[in-house]
Amino acid sequence: MTLPTNAIAIFASGTGSNALALIDYAQKINSPISCLICDNPQAPIVKANIDIPIYVVPFDRNKSEHEKTIEQILAKHQVNWIFLAGYMRILSREFIQKFSDKDRSRIINIHPSLLPQYKGLNAYERSYMNNDSFSGVTIHYVDSGIDTGEIIFQGKFERKNEDKLEDFINRGKKLEHLLYPKILERITNHNY
Ligand code: GRF
Repeated sequence: MTLPTNAIAIFASGTGSNALALIDYAQKINSPISCLICDNPQAPIVKANIDIPIYVVPFDRNKSEHEKTIEQILAKHQVNWIFLAGYMRILSREFIQKFSDKDRSRIINIHPSLLPQYKGLNAYERSYMNNDSFSGVTIHYVDSGIDTGEIIFQGKFERKNEDKLEDFINRGKKLEHLLYPKILERITNHNY
């Protein structure tokens, strides 16, 4: 059974450029993004001037309490889909379970590599240091592993000879901002 998309939440911890790309696109396609959750009070995204409520839920040593607080916010907004956009916490199996249908979760993540390559942190940096001639971006369902969930979509980008690390990352980020909203559109249109 497919649940209707009641509302979508974005989880972010940092700059939030993907969060902003999603929110911007959501307005164009009328996608029901209803709130943004951030675990880091220092994150630049917390100060963003956006039309949806931003909830800062700082992590306070207890994972289950932290997630419970988040769940209450999500329930208030009737959220049943979550887009992780640079969210730096690992969600518990129990939390993921609550946002899952039979075979997969309704939580989506964007990762800066062509998974299964470069799981974990600093993926662009590692790809650049390895002189890869191309790299990419993966959008996937979240499961209880780290960057292991079923892949929805991948996009490649080239490394140019003259690229500094910053140019390389910027090219990747640009691709992220293009692709992630397209997946938001798919979910909004129940096309999954
Ligand atoms: C992005 O590179 C995303 O792929 C990864 O974390 C980074 C977040 O960047 N999961 P931003 O905060 O969206 O700018």
